[in-house]
Amino acid sequence: MKTYNIAVMPGDGTGPEVILEGIKVIESVAARRNFKMEWTNFDFGGERYKKTGEILPDSAIDELGKFDAIYLGAIGHPEVKPGILEKGILLKLRFALDQYINLRPVKLYPGVETPLKDKGPDEIDFVVVRENTEGLYCGAGGFLKKGTPDEVAIQESINSRKGVERCLRFAYKYCRDRNKNKQLTLCGKTNVLTYAFDLWERTFNELAPEYPDISTNYAHVDATCMWMVKNPEWFDVIVTDNMFGDIITDLGAMIQGGMGVAAGGNINPEGVSMFEPIGGSAPKYTGQNVINPMAAICAGQMMIEMLGEKEAAQDVEKAVVEVISKEMKSLSAGRMGMSTTEVGDRVAAHVAG
Ligand code: IPM
Ligand code: MN
Repeated sequence: MKTYNIAVMPGDGTGPEVILEGIKVIESVAARRNFKMEWTNFDFGGERYKKTGEILPDSAIDELGKFDAIYLGAIGHPEVKPGILEKGILLKLRFALDQYINLRPVKLYPGVETPLKDKGPDEIDFVVVRENTEGLYCGAGGFLKKGTPDEVAIQESINSRKGVERCLRFAYKYCRDRNKNKQLTLCGKTNVLTYAFDLWERTFNELAPEYPDISTNYAHVDATCMWMVKNPEWFDVIVTDNMFGDIITDLGAMIQGGMGVAAGGNINPEGVSMFEPIGGSAPKYTGQNVINPMAAICAGQMMIEMLGEKEAAQDVEKAVVEVISKEMKSLSAGRMGMSTTEVGDRVAAHVAG
């Protein structure tokens, strides 16, 4: 029987609760589709940092790099200064494991409320391919004369030809495989960021002839935000840099019904990928059994799909749609009409058939 070795990092806040439900659902579909999951737990996160001072040692990165995938709950602790865990765990892993794609589907499921008037599941169904190892996230820059009246802070956006090209190639191929409108939109800011997005746009246009079945277009990031609200049906696959991708996918999460359903994959197509609900640790709900685990379940679905279990992934998606559209009252924490564990139970039950 095919066995997948998964590193689990439940992390902080409600991370552990939602990850448990994800594991419950994946175990259920594994039994049905005849494969096996081997879960190995890692307790990196705020609690461990507070107790031991350890964030994520290099030895852990080597170890995590040996798994088939990583399943991550949430990183972020209210008693730890912002940036330490995010940079020290999440970004460190994305960079060290060269997970150069952050894949974020924006899909409104039937029965889910969107704040967009007159838009439904037919209109809101696109995918953002976010570059995940470069741009403003590299940590390039520094201070001059820090703390003085003459202080200067510099934060540079790094865009390499290689990094841009591999991201664009992934997006072209992803758009082809997705096989929806076969339309790839580059989201940038060529009118102001005339170096970085010149490289992006030139590379985008240079590659286009290699993907003749894909039609291309371009939108500035501000206009992209506008269209995402006004005409989300215009999008099929959007490719963009790290910072813009971060911002537009929070907007995307909102129009698909909220952080409760938004999942993402940090993908290294040639290496080890990491899957996570993108909503954060929601510490105020910790331990109350009220948080929505759907995003974690959907991240699990993306994980098994990437591992090659396509049918199992479809089973999970079907079950998620059933439970969301027919059984849950809302996707917001505390208003779901059921508890965190019940949501997991229901999805697992549908998956089992
Ligand atoms: C995300 C998050 C992270 C990011 C933070 C926590 C560093 O917002 O995954 O979108 O900015 O990438
Ligand atoms: Mn973000």
